[in-house]
Amino acid sequence: MSGADDLVVLEKDLIAEIDGAGDLTALDAVRVSALGKKGRVSELMSKLGSLPPEERKTFGQTVNALKGKISDALDARKAALETAALDERLKTERADVTLPVRLGPVAEGRIHPVSQVLDEVVEIFADMGFSVAEGTDIETDEMNFDKLNIPPEHPARQDHDTFYFAPKPDGSRLLLRTHTSPVQIRTMVSQKPPIRIIAPGRVYRCDSDQTHTPMFHQVEGLVIDESTHMGHLKWVLQEFCKAFFEVDEVKMRFRASHFPFTEPSMEVDIGAEAIGKPGQWLEILGCGMVHPNVLRNCGLDPEKYQGFAFGVGLDRLTMLKYGIPDLRAFFSGDLTWLSHYGFSTLDVPTLAGGLSS
Ligand code: PHE
Repeated sequence: MSGADDLVVLEKDLIAEIDGAGDLTALDAVRVSALGKKGRVSELMSKLGSLPPEERKTFGQTVNALKGKISDALDARKAALETAALDERLKTERADVTLPVRLGPVAEGRIHPVSQVLDEVVEIFADMGFSVAEGTDIETDEMNFDKLNIPPEHPARQDHDTFYFAPKPDGSRLLLRTHTSPVQIRTMVSQKPPIRIIAPGRVYRCDSDQTHTPMFHQVEGLVIDESTHMGHLKWVLQEFCKAFFEVDEVKMRFRASHFPFTEPSMEVDIGAEAIGKPGQWLEILGCGMVHPNVLRNCGLDPEKYQGFAFGVGLDRLTMLKYGIPDLRAFFSGDLTWLSHYGFSTLDVPTLAGGLSS
């Protein structure tokens, strides 16, 4: 096959084969049979040597041109087949990007209601300019009681049902803190006013029934500066309750009370209509103006500094907001309970996005 006519026939044949290739595999077979080492076009080149010298140049050029055309035709067909294959896939593999994300195992995990409420509380107070402080679960008598104006013989100590560790050789005893109030002391001795902190954490009392567990959670609040007064305390607690219960108005009652570390002291009840129990009052926290003795114990001059403190029961708040009747279930590690009352790991509470939704 060396005549010009044969080349025309070969070109026609190859183009027809290329156009007829139904998929990429068939097309590749055509490529190999045309341009492969032993292919029909390549073989023509090997004939070049046997031609008389005056024909070699034109023949060579013609074969090269043919090679170019076939190669272009192969590329074009390949692109067309690939596009068609992609279109076919897109038809069957349609993705609706508006569908919710498939969660898989992540959806199985649950945030414990107390952790959820803690995150909500932190979010609310952070928005009011408070930062989060921490203490330790194991405390000294001094931090848990003495510095908080509760000396050894003080009757308030008996109310605390304290878990003590075995006494040390020097007679001193460590204990599991009975409230988060020692974090007030830790903060005031290590930080200069103005102070604005909340301190969430575990606390322990030797007590157990439907509404008491030996370990529970509190959030302490402390504000110290030169001018903070009870009006500020009231406002902060009102704003907190509205934000926490996600309602526009909360009825609150400030009742005179007594704590050795605050003067005056109050307990706060909320009108339970906020949580669908009209006519009832529920106690949620203790608070007051920090006692001058406590300020003095921390090296602060009560003539210069003043402020308020509060202590909220987190578990209590959780039961109220999410309608959970039995406190003991919080700590029983029951997965069925957790999957019912727990929260999605992906729903981070924010004021902007809604705390509980
Ligand atoms: N520590 C108190 C308690 O556990 C609560 C409290 C904190 C009261 C701060 C006043 C100020 O009951």
